[in-house]
Amino acid sequence: MINFQLFKNTKNCRNTNDFRTLAKAKLPSAIFHYIDGAADDEVTYRRNTEAYEKCDLIPNVLAGVEEIDTSVEVMGMKIDIPMFCSPTALQRLFHYDGERAVAKAAEKYGTLFGISSLGTVSLQEIGKTISTPKMFQFYCHKDKGVNDAMIEMCKQANFDAIALTVDTITGGNRERDLWTGFTTPPKLTPKSLISFVLHPNWSLNYLLREKFSLPQLEQHVNRGTNIAVSVGDYLSSMLDQSMDWKDAEEINRKWGKKFCLKGVMSVDDAKRAVDIGADAIMVSNHGGRQLDGCISPFEQLAEIVDAVGDRIDVICDGGIRRGTHVLKALSVGAKACSGGRWYLYALAAGGQLGVEKAISNMKNEIERDMKLMGVTKLSQLSRKNIKFR
Ligand SMILES: Cc1cc2nc3c(=O)[nH]c(=O)nc-3n(C[C@H](O)[C@H](O)[C@H](O)COP(=O)(O)O)c2cc1C
Repeated sequence: MINFQLFKNTKNCRNTNDFRTLAKAKLPSAIFHYIDGAADDEVTYRRNTEAYEKCDLIPNVLAGVEEIDTSVEVMGMKIDIPMFCSPTALQRLFHYDGERAVAKAAEKYGTLFGISSLGTVSLQEIGKTISTPKMFQFYCHKDKGVNDAMIEMCKQANFDAIALTVDTITGGNRERDLWTGFTTPPKLTPKSLISFVLHPNWSLNYLLREKFSLPQLEQHVNRGTNIAVSVGDYLSSMLDQSMDWKDAEEINRKWGKKFCLKGVMSVDDAKRAVDIGADAIMVSNHGGRQLDGCISPFEQLAEIVDAVGDRIDVICDGGIRRGTHVLKALSVGAKACSGGRWYLYALAAGGQLGVEKAISNMKNEIERDMKLMGVTKLSQLSRKNIKFR
């Protein structure tokens, strides 16, 4: 039996799983598992994708679908495809171009680019590099000076939106990271050394190219905690566990532009997001990396859309691996979808070109699936197009 996995390169990666296979081969194992892993038994992580298999699309035919429009509007921004890049930490570890590569690929396909508070390229540089919509993911730190400085950086770099992450009040129990000893930056131990030696391309690029840094936090790290530990420790020790709705409202007020809450899962919280004047919510459980046993975003979507969908943009985040998943979420009423791993595996597999291929795969799937569904605009999708089993 021929092992087709051996012939994979980014050009012939046809889906998220192909990129995942390639990323696994290219990255030292601790880094691969940091991307791939989730909390506790990873039940929620698996359910985020499985939820899409519990319902079916109902197509219409003879609809004249030669010309179709894949764009949507979210938070007042027009994006060319309804799937965007959620903010994810530490991208320099996955490929030496890090966020630069993802930002340029997102720009090429006209979709929204999200950058994490733990981004490894500065907001200033991203602001100069791309002219398409960009969103900063905001962690509320105990040190209010850090918070104010980050809002100011977003303003200076002309960011369009801030997403305040609300599902990381403490670090999730990511056991794969505990097993592998994943730290930021990577520590040299006998175990990690073997993995670095077995991945010489990654190791040389890591050692010889631009040094790993966290420009958004650099000036504040020494005052808070030692970042060269683990992301879990960072979340638990530097972030403000007393954060509440008043703080979220205050951050929104200080920012004054488009504002989103990332990690809302309950109907009550979605209503409160409307009350504090948020423009959008990302229905998300952080890709299953925080509370294991949490319901999946797609399973919560209908109730949330019914409660607040006419007053706030509802984004479905996480578990999405196929164009049909996006069409299912939009049929239920999401304004747009987003995700992390779908482009992160591709970043690790092939830098900017890899991410471009992942986005183009997704765009092609969405185009094909729209035609097969008999819609020329995404706004034509509705609950009539979906049946839950
Ligand atoms: C490696 C990795 C790092 C992440 N870092 C952040 C982060 O810094 N801030 C944040 O709000 N979410 C972060 N997330 C969560 C993503 O923004 C997104 O919610 C999640 O990836 C969605 O699930 P999916 O990967 O199945 O698409 C991260 C996810 C991954 C996989």
